[in-house]
Amino acid sequence: MSAAVVCGIGTCLPERVVSNDDLAARLDTSDAWIRSRTGIARRRIVEPGTSTGDLAVAAGQAALDSAGHGADFVLLATTTPDRPCPATAPEVAHRLGLGEVPAMDVSAVCSGFVYAVTVARSLVASGTCARPLVIGAEVYTSIIDPLDRDTAVIFGDGAGAVVLREGGAAESGALRAVDLGSDGSGGELITVVAGGSRRPRADVELPRSQRYFRMQGRTVYRHAVHRMTASSRLALERAGWSPTSVRAFVGHQANQRILDAVGDRLGIGAPHRFGNIAEVGNTAAASIPLALADTAARDLVRPGERSLLTAFGGGLTWGSIALSWPAAVPVQRHLPVPAARRPAMVPAPASVPCQNGPRP
Ligand code: ACO
Repeated sequence: MSAAVVCGIGTCLPERVVSNDDLAARLDTSDAWIRSRTGIARRRIVEPGTSTGDLAVAAGQAALDSAGHGADFVLLATTTPDRPCPATAPEVAHRLGLGEVPAMDVSAVCSGFVYAVTVARSLVASGTCARPLVIGAEVYTSIIDPLDRDTAVIFGDGAGAVVLREGGAAESGALRAVDLGSDGSGGELITVVAGGSRRPRADVELPRSQRYFRMQGRTVYRHAVHRMTASSRLALERAGWSPTSVRAFVGHQANQRILDAVGDRLGIGAPHRFGNIAEVGNTAAASIPLALADTAARDLVRPGERSLLTAFGGGLTWGSIALSWPAAVPVQRHLPVPAARRPAMVPAPASVPCQNGPRP
């Protein structure tokens, strides 16, 4: 039986660290509140001038280096594209030296990476491409109100990526089953009101509440626990795995309390829950690949062990993936200087040909 297999993992984090105390110096909050309510100790923030595309290129290159080959499709999951039009992915593919490969953005907020991996899996299964590169990248601080303590303490910037290839279902890194869902009736719970076609940003003088990201935290919390638990159960059921057989649980890093509540409901014990929310905060679409890479880099899970990725985010959207733990060795990078002063990226070592139609 064939399957899409994770064969490369890469990340890029900005070098600048912002601690809870740094935030408490300018906001009515404290290190104790942030740690106890979210599990976050610090987060990474880009320098002015660094974009989501810059982080995506660096993480994408890292994943290609980890895989040891190029890619023939680029999917970029992000909430914070470089600009409203065009999508960021084509420029990322170009800067990676991948030639004229298909490239598109995927917009599903914090579930974006799980959505994009699921699309990539289908592209491989249909023969549309053979080695898709899936990136989750965010400069979330570009949409956060720095004066809003409800959100400013939660989010950070970063990017993570994986490369998939066609392989066998029994291989380490094989994607075994997925579940995706959405409920647009909850769209207002997590939103940036202005900036789209319904309320173009340029047309009126807008209040801060409409210009920046807003989230009804307490209500979203309940949805997140319920949806990630239910979706995880569905993905695992489709894989034929019981929740208690899962050896690695990597959930979207919105809040450690949410992850623990989902783990508890599924019966996946604390020793099998992995992530680095304390170090990076909530990085939306970048959150799962950053946690995946951190766990793999620390050799905490054996290749082939039953694993579960699950996410929940704005939309509302959610999704889960049952996979066997990849054997890929992650490549982790930092982005030390603003894009304007950075040398051009070195192209990927080798690119595979693009195929726009199903393979024979
Ligand atoms: N520092 C100090 N106090 C604060 C802060 C802060 N940074 N933020 C809020 N408070 C106060 C509130 O004003 C409130 O005070 P009150 O009791 O006097 O009214 C009190 O702390 C409790 O506020 P809650 O909002 O109930 O705090 P909660 O424990 O729910 O934590 C949080 C807030 C962290 C936002 C949590 O609700 C959460 O994680 N929600 C879900 C996030 C999520 O899953 N998002 C989806 C994915 S992200 C995405 O899609 C982009």
